Amino acid sequence: MRAWVFLSGPMGAGKSTLGRALAERLSARFVDLDARIEAAEGRAVAAIFAEDGEDAFRAIEAASALALLDEEPGVVALGGGTVVDPKTRRTLLERGLLITLEAEPHVLRERIAEGSGRPLAGRLERLLAARAAAYAECHAEVRTDAPFEDALAALVAATEARAVVVPLGLRTYRVVFSALENLNAVVADISPTSVIVVTDSNVHDPWGAPMARALNARRLVVLDAGEENKTVGAVERIWDAALDASVDRGALLVAVGGGVVGDLTGFAAATLMRGVRFVQVPTTMLAMVDASVGGKTGFDRPQGKNLAGAFHQPQHVLIDVDTLTTLPDAELRSGLAEVVKSAWLDSEDAVAALERDADALIARDPEALRAAAHRSVVLKARVVALDEMEGGHRRVLNLGHTVGHAIEAARGYRGIRHGEAVSLGMVAAFRMAARLGDERALAHEARLCSLLERLGLPIDLAAWWDEPTAKYIGSDKKRHGDQVGFIVPGAPGEVEVVSLPLHHEFGP
Ligand SMILES: NC(=O)c1ccc[n+]([C@@H]2O[C@H](COP(=O)([O-])OP(=O)(O)OC[C@H]3O[C@@H](n4cnc5c(N)ncnc54)[C@H](O)[C@@H]3O)[C@@H](O)[C@H]2O)c1
Repeated sequence: MRAWVFLSGPMGAGKSTLGRALAERLSARFVDLDARIEAAEGRAVAAIFAEDGEDAFRAIEAASALALLDEEPGVVALGGGTVVDPKTRRTLLERGLLITLEAEPHVLRERIAEGSGRPLAGRLERLLAARAAAYAECHAEVRTDAPFEDALAALVAATEARAVVVPLGLRTYRVVFSALENLNAVVADISPTSVIVVTDSNVHDPWGAPMARALNARRLVVLDAGEENKTVGAVERIWDAALDASVDRGALLVAVGGGVVGDLTGFAAATLMRGVRFVQVPTTMLAMVDASVGGKTGFDRPQGKNLAGAFHQPQHVLIDVDTLTTLPDAELRSGLAEVVKSAWLDSEDAVAALERDADALIARDPEALRAAAHRSVVLKARVVALDEMEGGHRRVLNLGHTVGHAIEAARGYRGIRHGEAVSLGMVAAFRMAARLGDERALAHEARLCSLLERLGLPIDLAAWWDEPTAKYIGSDKKRHGDQVGFIVPGAPGEVEVVSLPLHHEFGP
């Protein structure tokens, strides 16, 4: 077994019983954290609680859970409160699959009554409420008040799903790589009162219309394709389609398309009747790895792109890389620029994987596309979890975007795609690193350029740099007074946000 599986959930949820069965099914070893603590301490959990207090127990529990990670992976039944500590929880989420087992309170109570010596059993309801946000941050929730074999099957399925979790307390959601037809089960789980599917004129035939039929949507909204249609008028079309269909606040909007459809649908969902839920089904590489995850929604104004919007997280993101089969080559390449960006932000391993897979990606090998997208989504989820509202750390995702955005904007967003501009912007970022004294920057730039070129992306910054581009940087919405926060890259996995005066040299 390669990865850890941690089972969490309240007492009586079945962590030990199902954990043992799951371990057997996966031919993995099983660890019961409470049993391990009792053996190490030489006393029962209840005795540790009574003698030393809950805080002392939690400290022992956190240390024991983290110590496990140095061992060979297996299935672990955690304690009921192990995940309450945010640091332990986030570490477990990063290092393996964290699955929450759930059951109705009356079922839990019956099971607890059968057991003995459970120190917190008397306060079950209060505990469930207090821990709800911590339990929600998981890769999957499995109900154990179903028959045992069904619960075990659901658990096995959850371990196979390769979900990426965006842990945001009660607003936690998952990004799942799977076939489009699996959206039915996702939507059934959300149990909306009605479904409105939003797509665009290019995505309608291959993916939008079949999806609307499969979901039995009350309305299918087909927006005009293209960034020039990312307007408040498009948002109004979504609002009005939903309102004309007399939906209520239990409605679910489903965005099937690229970043434009996703951003517009997300904004319409954020504002319709003060907020309804939405699901993202991205169909471009860019939307898969960037736009569909993180909850930024909005539309363009004549003054600039994305100048009106809101943060509103989706309920779920479903990525089916088969939808890329109809995507034009240039759009695929544009999305791959964001994949390169995220690999460079991530690690040496991620960049090396892209170098290995570059030809397969261009040849649209589904496994290579899935692996690259998966890695990028993991990174994006991690960054969003640390900084949902882009107050600080999330800004690193703007690597290549200060100059890239200026190149696009100075041309009125015509003649160059976003990813192509980001490609040039990343080259500019390494030039900046060199200018700021990083002696390794030239070597990094050469490595980056070679990868970008293999992916068919532009690297000739000088050919695109001109006076209007330089001027545009001064009006970037990410500026603060007369400074701009510039993302300066080092080796893969190393980036720094440097505040630079707007009159600085940003070009080649
Ligand atoms: N919310 C965020 O965090 C975030 C992040 C990055 C970008 N964005 C936004 O995303 C947008 C760019 O996204 P994009 O590149 O996906 O643009 P897009 O939605 O315009 O899609 C690009 C083109 O591909 C077509 N298309 C989409 N899927 C297709 C498919 N499977 N087959 C055939 N054609 C298909 C579209 O109709 C469009 O013509 C921008 O508006 C940008 O602001 C948002």
